[in-house]
Amino acid sequence: MGYNVAIDGPAGAGKSTIAKLVAKEKGYIYVDTGAMYRGMAIHFLKKGVDPDDREAVAEACTDADVSIGYENGVQQVYLNGENVTSMLRTEEVGNMASRTSAVPAVREKLLELQRSLAAEKDVIMDGRDIGTNILPNADVKIYLTASVETRAKRRYDELVEKGEKCSLEEIARDIRERDERDMTRETAPLKQAEDAVLVDSSNMSIQEVVDTICSYCRQGEAK
Ligand code: DC
Repeated sequence: MGYNVAIDGPAGAGKSTIAKLVAKEKGYIYVDTGAMYRGMAIHFLKKGVDPDDREAVAEACTDADVSIGYENGVQQVYLNGENVTSMLRTEEVGNMASRTSAVPAVREKLLELQRSLAAEKDVIMDGRDIGTNILPNADVKIYLTASVETRAKRRYDELVEKGEKCSLEEIARDIRERDERDMTRETAPLKQAEDAVLVDSSNMSIQEVVDTICSYCRQGEAK
């Protein structure tokens, strides 16, 4: 059985940045479950599935196979054998993933993949329902959050840095909508597990967050 660290929280809280750094420091494998939902979203976009048509989404799951691998320690996502990693991080894919991840058939499809990775290796796994649903017996559970304003500003700075045109208000609105969807859906909604440690990163530096989380975790063995 691997040593398991679960890190959940809303969009833009910095989960992946932090989890990658903790993984490096402690020798864990970083598992990004959002990327798996994004892989499924690409399948739905390719097939032109309406995300609000739950039956069509469930039906489209039958010919989707998402798997992951690692290249130089970096997680890769494969959809029906094709490496789709470079296509995952667009707003279109993120919105499709947020909508379709509410459908139970989509979650069931990814559950075993996530659990089997955690069973084999020392992992830090980030997502929305890792501590509450996927790994209820995780050794450490962290709920990482930050205010909407902080999360929107971080995303805004990231996009400006990439030279993309964007509006802070629109980003904040998008984050509020995504929070609402992720927290109020019936299946595996985003919420803090009872035994999770709450870390609010609004006024913390990246290193402070990493140090705080590392202080709860033991050294890993898997590389
Ligand atoms: O973390 P992310 O933005 O890459 O995730 C994309 C979407 O996938 C997010 O809006 C909610 C969903 N998701 C989920 O429902 N459960 C997870 N464990 C991870 C992501």
